[in-house]
Amino acid sequence: MSKLIRRIAINTGGGDAPGLNAVVRAVVLSALHRGWECVGIRDGYNGLLVPDVYPDGGIMELTRESVRGITHLGGTVLGTTNRGSPLAYPTLGADGQWREEDRSGELVSKLKELDVDALIAIGGDGSLAIANALFQQGVRVVGVPKTIDNDLAETVVTFGFDTAVSFAAECVDRLHSTAEAHDRVMVVEVMGRYAGWIGLHAGVAGTADAILIPEIPYDIGKVAEKIRQRAARGRDFAIVVVAEGAHSIGVQRSVVAKEVGQQERLGGIGQRVAAELAELTGKETRTVVLGHLLRGGSPTTRDRILALRFGSAAVRALADGCFGCMVALDPPIVRYVPLSSAIKRMKTVPLDCDTMQTARELGISFGD
Ligand code: F6P
Repeated sequence: MSKLIRRIAINTGGGDAPGLNAVVRAVVLSALHRGWECVGIRDGYNGLLVPDVYPDGGIMELTRESVRGITHLGGTVLGTTNRGSPLAYPTLGADGQWREEDRSGELVSKLKELDVDALIAIGGDGSLAIANALFQQGVRVVGVPKTIDNDLAETVVTFGFDTAVSFAAECVDRLHSTAEAHDRVMVVEVMGRYAGWIGLHAGVAGTADAILIPEIPYDIGKVAEKIRQRAARGRDFAIVVVAEGAHSIGVQRSVVAKEVGQQERLGGIGQRVAAELAELTGKETRTVVLGHLLRGGSPTTRDRILALRFGSAAVRALADGCFGCMVALDPPIVRYVPLSSAIKRMKTVPLDCDTMQTARELGISFGD
């Protein structure tokens, strides 16, 4: 018979998303409710991998007091990182060269040393792949899907997405009046590395004229044509929403930096689209990059509820003996799906989904 659960660890990994603290609170309270202890690992797994840099040794005991009043707060009380995955940890070799080293075995030993019986890992595709690797090495793990990008498979939605979309749509709304006042084309760049969920939803809700997403390589001439058609109808301004991972036909995504142990940093596509549209239409253009503003702030009510449900469900999964799984929203229920299926593919926008059809029927151009 496997060892009873008495003490669990929890961590948050990857880019932060509104709702992380709500998950932490729900996990801690649901664990305490079962008489379990709960510890938090700082900054992804850094609290275990580089404990000496932390005054508290990289681990914090999580009590009722430590999670009081955090449901509505953005960020994460545990800290997070999206550099230095334990599966490919940047290590400086004796030859002065940086290498990527698999340090997952070390994590397994550290968790044992700390008397941790199970782990709840909150994160996106990268963090859940690490969670799955730990599960393969015998750790009892449950994953909680997080990302504002909403690109994780097997769950209808991730927490953080609703907050990001609501803010992006509000920004698009605000840009209408200034675009109209100046007869300008406003290009709004939003996050969305591999998937255009934020761009699509914010663009449709904010009534953009064109939406450019990673799933549809665009032809800038088609977007310029849409702007000219509007002008012919007396509408001399336009709003174009561009996901950071969007790219034109035959061109690579716009990368600004790539460092060892880090994913490529994207950026610059909004500026490029604006410059090309200015040239093709002769109109004045401006770019607004929403970037990390989409990750900040207080989670919406919808995200708080989802995050709290996910946190509680993750503890229930452990109590039910369901390990190596991820909690997933499958309305009206939260169910458990294997981590291995969740990390197998990216959930991109299906081009025939009804939101896409709606957008096209509303006259929104995708540059195709
Ligand atoms: O994964 C979420 C995300 O917001 C992506 O859309 C974006 O490319 C990435 O995080 C940026 O992360 P950071 O700037 O924190 O490295």
